[in-house]
Amino acid sequence: MSIDQERGETVSVGHAELDAQHQRLLELISKCAGLSATGSHQALDQMKCLMQMSNYAQIHFRYEENVLRDSGYPLVEEHAELHTEYTRQVEKLLASAGAEDLPRKMHEFLSKWFEEHVLIEDMKYRSHLLAENAGQE
Ligand SMILES: [Fe+2]
Ligand SMILES: [Fe+2]
Repeated sequence: MSIDQERGETVSVGHAELDAQHQRLLELISKCAGLSATGSHQALDQMKCLMQMSNYAQIHFRYEENVLRDSGYPLVEEHAELHTEYTRQVEKLLASAGAEDLPRKMHEFLSKWFEEHVLIEDMKYRSHLLAENAGQE
């Protein structure tokens, strides 16, 4: 895989609970990716895994958006739109369930999403949250 546990652990968005949630997302992605190498019930297992990942991502998005709103982050609506786009893309993937290349597509999509969203887009609010916290001390 192109992402690994260590990388997730070393990345911080400046908020302990959000960091923990990102770590959990990374663990779920690794779990889903690992299922692509297993046997006969692969498609069903991966659907379950993707649903679990997707459901947890939704919980994370609502939490993250609330943290950003509460902290007065000016780009919160733009960020929330990226979460909505993720949801659309997962729905597309779910609609293609049963296709032989679903495991590969899912792994590629989730790995890319983690790298592009969590490691790049989420990191954009890091300095804002750190400044907010510093101001409250
Ligand atoms: Fe996030
Ligand atoms: Fe986000």
